Amino acid sequence: MGLFPFMSKIVRKGKCLFLLLLCLCVVAWIATITIDNTNKPFQDGSKSPDDKSVAGFKQMELESEMIQSIEEQSAKETCPKQSPLRRGAIKLSFDPSLTIGQVERENGEVVEGQYNPSDCIARQSVAILIPHRNREKHLLYLLHHLHPFLQRQQLHYAIYVIHQAGVATFNRAKLLNVGYLEALNDHSWDCFVFHDVDLVPENDHNLYMCDKQPKHLVVGRNSTGYKLRYKGYFGGVSAMTKEQFFKVNGFPNTYWGWGGEDDDLRIRLTLQKMSIIRPALEVGRYTMVFHNRDNGNQINKDRMHLLRRTHQTWKTDGLNSCSYKVLSVQRAPLYINVTVDVGRPERAH
Ligand SMILES: *[C@@H]1O[C@H](CO)[C@@H](O)[C@H](O)[C@H]1NC(C)=O
Ligand SMILES: *[C@@H]1O[C@H](CO)[C@@H](O)[C@H](O)[C@H]1NC(C)=O
Repeated sequence: MGLFPFMSKIVRKGKCLFLLLLCLCVVAWIATITIDNTNKPFQDGSKSPDDKSVAGFKQMELESEMIQSIEEQSAKETCPKQSPLRRGAIKLSFDPSLTIGQVERENGEVVEGQYNPSDCIARQSVAILIPHRNREKHLLYLLHHLHPFLQRQQLHYAIYVIHQAGVATFNRAKLLNVGYLEALNDHSWDCFVFHDVDLVPENDHNLYMCDKQPKHLVVGRNSTGYKLRYKGYFGGVSAMTKEQFFKVNGFPNTYWGWGGEDDDLRIRLTLQKMSIIRPALEVGRYTMVFHNRDNGNQINKDRMHLLRRTHQTWKTDGLNSCSYKVLSVQRAPLYINVTVDVGRPERAH
């Protein structure tokens, strides 16, 4: 009786030992094969030398192709500081019969709202953010002029239309915060241009690139006789780097209706010791396409009150508190349509 458990123990131990040896053998065998393959390619009996040399040749071909494409990339130079394609002041046209199909055909190199110059490496990657609601015709005019304008500046760029869904009062600033956050999901953009839909640039020397300081691009527009609206004005079209915008916590989210949010952003910049730069008067010219004030974008009567508190509120009202719901992201040929629910005003005034 006592003999059986003893025997079975020995048998079990023996089995384990056997398995272990088997494993070691397999490992050793695999090792020899690999060494064979790397060190003595033509002495492996399992394949004929011909097979091997074909494989080796293919490998070499692949490597030389890779080297070639790397060389091509390094041969492509950074685009010049001053793009030779720029034309200066141009006469703008606003043809009522213009269609989106026409603008798409004119911009065959734009793919899903994005363009990258093919013959040089762009100096900056720029996301153009356009807050939008019910302004299809203005958007069409803007796309018609802006795409060729940006291509003549040899930029890597994408145009984002941030479409506010619903009937709540328009909130330009919050839409721009959303645009910034959503665009960064696509690419780590160097520069952001915050662009009203009804302003069309007249001179392509007005560079849509960012600088060491935030840049205000609309020095004048035809509707103001091409004069700055007021000292310190930072609205319409402005450009900030990813870092500059992040540092000021973006725009406030609490400005509903027309006005004030651009002054709030200016105060944020000043609090961070940044200053605003502008192009020359003859370069920073825009045409404002005529329209009546939209329903749902009434003057924000609260703006003066809000502006007095910016120095206290900027840290908690901005990118870090921007809550919203993306309803859809449509990649149209000429722009990326981010449709978003930004909610509605919280406080009753
Ligand atoms: C500015 O130019 C646009 C386009 O030509 C025109 O629709 C608008 O009425 C002009 N505005 C003024 C104030 O001249
Ligand atoms: C953006 O997408 C929304 C939702 O599909 C649509 O209602 C709206 O018309 C689109 N806007 C533009 C400018 O394409």
